[in-house]
Amino acid sequence: MAENAATTHSGTPGTVTKRDFLQLVALAGAGIGAGAIAWPLIDSMNPSADVLAVSSVEVELAPIETGSGITVMWQGKPIFVRHRTAKEIKEAEDVKMSELIEPQPDSARVKPGHAQWIVVIGICTHLGCIPLGNKPTDPRGEWGGWFCPCHGSQYDTSGRVRHGPAPLNLHLPPYAFESDTKIKLG
Ligand code: FES
Repeated sequence: MAENAATTHSGTPGTVTKRDFLQLVALAGAGIGAGAIAWPLIDSMNPSADVLAVSSVEVELAPIETGSGITVMWQGKPIFVRHRTAKEIKEAEDVKMSELIEPQPDSARVKPGHAQWIVVIGICTHLGCIPLGNKPTDPRGEWGGWFCPCHGSQYDTSGRVRHGPAPLNLHLPPYAFESDTKIKLG
């Protein structure tokens, strides 16, 4: 009996066996499945309208008294804005790089001409807790910046980690001065 080339392997180049056919169908199905899974995932990565609406935030600095700080939310993250005293600025500038866990000069963490303002993302670089230090009653740690109660990390007035377990300095958000008394985050 003559064999059907579509259901048996004849060994002739160009013919398709039943097994080959099933593999092709399976691969095509996998491709469609991957596409069906990937699209909602990719679509979900696009920022929603409300996220886009707060992609930048303006912060008025005039109400923040020297020596105090505030927390503002930007893109779902707490941002610490601290108005440093002359003493805090000098201490932050005078630190030897050899004393730092992640060496970084203070000048690289503030905007030129605005050393009285330190702006950092208020998320501990250890496991992501929000450090204390902005409220007048908050502990600020030995270096006068921020203290993370979760595991005891401490940051200085430049937001640099001075005592672990946090391995890195507080990260800096993108921002710019719109005037001497206003910054724009984002
Ligand atoms: S999360 Fe801050 S010290 Fe662990």
